[in-house]
Amino acid sequence: MRDIQDIITWQEDGTPFSEVFSDIYFSKAQGFDEKSHVFINGNNLPERFKTAGNFTIIEAGFGTGLNFLLTLKHWQELAPKDAVLKYIGFEQYPMSQIQIIKSLEKWRGELPQFDQFIECYSTLKVADKVFNCNINNCSLRLHLGDINSSILLLNDQADAWFLDGFSPAKNPQMWSDKLLAQMPRLTKAGGSFATYSAAGWLREKLRQQGFLVQKAKGFANKKAMNKGVFQSE
Ligand SMILES: C[S@@+](CC[C@H](N)C(=O)[O-])C[C@H]1O[C@@H](n2cnc3c(N)ncnc32)[C@H](O)[C@@H]1O
Repeated sequence: MRDIQDIITWQEDGTPFSEVFSDIYFSKAQGFDEKSHVFINGNNLPERFKTAGNFTIIEAGFGTGLNFLLTLKHWQELAPKDAVLKYIGFEQYPMSQIQIIKSLEKWRGELPQFDQFIECYSTLKVADKVFNCNINNCSLRLHLGDINSSILLLNDQADAWFLDGFSPAKNPQMWSDKLLAQMPRLTKAGGSFATYSAAGWLREKLRQQGFLVQKAKGFANKKAMNKGVFQSE
């Protein structure tokens, strides 16, 4: 296991970079808008939140928590006040609180639950297997360790998935057949997924798992991304 301070460095413009996977978490210039386009809009969350009862999101690759904070911002603005959001994240290399602050500080003012999240995240211990924290009407549960093992023990069902591993070439474990094979068991009928990856093989594999998959417009100059809806039998 790597020391926590060796997991991440920052490029000159402040973009967080993984030393483990040699890939960026997101671009400092566009991360906020890209994550919103791919994961929030790709799962049609603003519309769905307005009429949501309880809602569950599963994220493969929690990282800095940017996707989580963006989701929470929309949830608090749009969802009925008595509805509860369950956010389940998987992360093998949890960052320190300081690394997260450094990665997200540019958007701090646009993420209303930032301080609450940081305060609660500060109690996470790397040796934990599961970390829980509550922010208003949202419960966050993080499973720490390799998702390929921890996903097998999961019994929740997602309304939406965020597939946000590093690029498949650099991080194949996050796009493994083992993980994809768990998705039908862990997805509600009509549940959705979104990912920045436009890979054709991923589209095909998710089709085989029962998703109606669509190639959608990618963020900015990226031509495409994948998203889809689960069709139960
Ligand atoms: C692109 S980053 C995720 C960015 C994140 N969603 C955010 O909002 O900041 C990919 C994440 O997947 C994690 N990861 C890679 N392989 C993993 C595995 N086998 N199990 C769990 N997490 C893994 C990495 O440590 C990294 O935090």
